[in-house]
Amino acid sequence: MAKKLLLEYDHVPGISTLDVYRRHGGYASLNKALKDLTPAQVLEEVKTSGLRGRGGAGFPTGMKWGFLARPEGVPRYLVCNADESEPGTFKDRYLMERIPHLLIEGMVLSSYALGANTSYIYIRGEYYYVARILERAIAEAYEAGLLGKNIFNSGFDHDCYVHVGAGAYICGEETALLESLEGKRGNPRIKPPFPAVAGLYGCPTVVNNVETIAAVVPIVRDGGAAYAGIGVGKSTGTKLISASGHINRPGVYEIELGVPVEEFIFSDLYCGGMRNGKKLKAVVAGGSSVPVLPADLILKTAAGEPRLMTYESLADGGFASGTMLGSGGFIVMDEDTSIVKNLWNFTRFYHHESCGQCSPCREGTGWMEKILHKILDGHGTLADVDLLWDIQSKIEGKTICPLGDAAAWPVASAIRHFRKEFEEYVTRPASIRDVKHYYRLHSMAEA
Ligand SMILES: Cc1cc2nc3c(=O)[nH]c(=O)nc-3n(C[C@H](O)[C@H](O)[C@H](O)COP(=O)(O)O)c2cc1C
Ligand code: SF4
Repeated sequence: MAKKLLLEYDHVPGISTLDVYRRHGGYASLNKALKDLTPAQVLEEVKTSGLRGRGGAGFPTGMKWGFLARPEGVPRYLVCNADESEPGTFKDRYLMERIPHLLIEGMVLSSYALGANTSYIYIRGEYYYVARILERAIAEAYEAGLLGKNIFNSGFDHDCYVHVGAGAYICGEETALLESLEGKRGNPRIKPPFPAVAGLYGCPTVVNNVETIAAVVPIVRDGGAAYAGIGVGKSTGTKLISASGHINRPGVYEIELGVPVEEFIFSDLYCGGMRNGKKLKAVVAGGSSVPVLPADLILKTAAGEPRLMTYESLADGGFASGTMLGSGGFIVMDEDTSIVKNLWNFTRFYHHESCGQCSPCREGTGWMEKILHKILDGHGTLADVDLLWDIQSKIEGKTICPLGDAAAWPVASAIRHFRKEFEEYVTRPASIRDVKHYYRLHSMAEA
């Protein structure tokens, strides 16, 4: 049975309340840290654990915390990124909705290690009801003395606030998030300086994903070494995966990093195989921003090794034949899926969500959306497919924030692995294109 560190008690009735959470070991890690460990020791445990940021980039959390500037007399902040707008990703919502106190305990623990007396949970506007759940849990924690002054008589004070965003994907990018939290338009900042030096209100700030912060609770409870003992190589611990698409059992799964992708898709422990007995066509393994892979390459690397659910194995082969674990938004597509239509949908999203500061992203996402629409509409040409490739190559790496890359990679990978499908769309006889035209427009509108 796979080990669960975050979702062990997610089905216990009332686990969202402080009382039931505490009866299942809740706030024991915080008690342990505040009584027995110095902030530096908590930081050391996180470093030892090998925990990597669960928001998408997989940056080592302990190292990030170690970068936090500590000038005398200047406040430091912890900000939790609960924006979760990446298409296909819904794991943070599940965690916050089911076990809000796990996040709050993680917030206080992490803040203790960082020396932050104030923290914020920035949550996307569409998760308004989850924000209410968090606020209720925070009120319970204040009432019980788990937030506020002198927590567990340790002398450590901490206040935690929930801030509801307006529902923009770009506000998940950490510097856009900080702008938004400061009450401004959510435009990404040019870096450096990085938030660890000049973040919220110009003060040293750590921004971490919901799941990253929650993982600090079992790390402190069991020790960093125990956490590092789970997983494979530099992919330690467990990871929440939100699985969706044409599978029998969509949902949020906590996996031990290192599970073979084949097992994750076909085992009844996880996705339960393909819906209606269809064939697997492709997978977007880590949210809409990562390269799509065809069935053969998601199950096995180009060298024929079984592909594992780890940062390294999924990336094996680079972008020629690999992808990324990303945020863990695992989207499975069956043989009936149109890769071109799916790509148009993703590209439409990026065009809509681009903040518009950089020309390659602002203009390029719009062009790509229009060309894909033209192809789907039955009026594309082979030159359009080449133009799409050219545009995406001129966005990647040339923008202020990674939203540009996130828009370019799905286009590049779809053409790289499924070029034939694009060619079929643009070389069909005109009469067939016209017959399909009405159907396509209507099915797009329904999608
Ligand atoms: C366009 C864009 C959207 C992002 N959305 C999120 C998000 O919703 N949640 C998240 O944790 N990180 C998101 N990130 C990544 C954050 O910028 C940042 O790397 C992350 O919050 C750091 O936390 P971690 O180290 O715990 O992963 C996004 C990045 C980009 C470029
Ligand atoms: S890459 Fe796109 S979203 Fe990011 S700063 Fe530039 S225009 Fe804005």
